Amino acid sequence: MFKVAIDGPSGAGKSTIAKTAAQILGFVYIDTGAMYRTAALSCLKENINIKESPEKAIEVVNNISIDIDYIDGEQRIFLNGEDVSDKIRTPEVSMGASDVSAIGAVREKLVNLQRDLAGTKNVIMDGRDIGTHVLPDANVKIFLTASAEVRAQRRFKELIEKGTQVLYEDVLSDIIKRDRQDETREVSPLKKAEDAVLADTSELTLDESIKLVLDIINKKRDV
Ligand code: DC
Repeated sequence: MFKVAIDGPSGAGKSTIAKTAAQILGFVYIDTGAMYRTAALSCLKENINIKESPEKAIEVVNNISIDIDYIDGEQRIFLNGEDVSDKIRTPEVSMGASDVSAIGAVREKLVNLQRDLAGTKNVIMDGRDIGTHVLPDANVKIFLTASAEVRAQRRFKELIEKGTQVLYEDVLSDIIKRDRQDETREVSPLKKAEDAVLADTSELTLDESIKLVLDIINKKRDV
């Protein structure tokens, strides 16, 4: 099996780039952020304040089922059988996902699920700890990043296009806050694996970023 790990901060374009690269290569794309988002949604549905009551969050997450399916090549994610792929894309769920992802017991459950999914297929998996923790033996590791301002601009545009009312300043401060939280948490913090290739997309278009990632992957496949 050939495994590609793509890690990096939110808004670096990981999911779009990984999804497109996977389609081109005929690999399965696995979006692990969606799993943390789904775990967060399950807590928000129960009105749990994740930061104040992590033990309640653990109890809820331990009792849910998260399933991944592919419909027309798109990853869909299910919470207790309900397709929540669209519901998990709100700013509230984004922040909840960052909160819930700091809890060790939650990470353990989701990491097991991620390793199971990667067990039998060629995959491109994106997240924060894929190269450092989930798939330490990945054939290719890429750390994809961009400046906070560029990432905020991209996320802002995405949200506006979806009809979500947001301010750029709020998107930027959310990104900075989430970066800090993801980089400083005790369990599996966001960090470039030593053997990961650094890819900075601040100055690149989407097409150029996809080409860069494909070049990095293909170079390793030829070896
Ligand atoms: O990539 P994303 O924005 O959908 O991720 C949502 C949150 O989940 C983000 O704040 C960090 C966390 N996350 C994580 O801790 N580990 C992963 N492998 C993927 C996401």
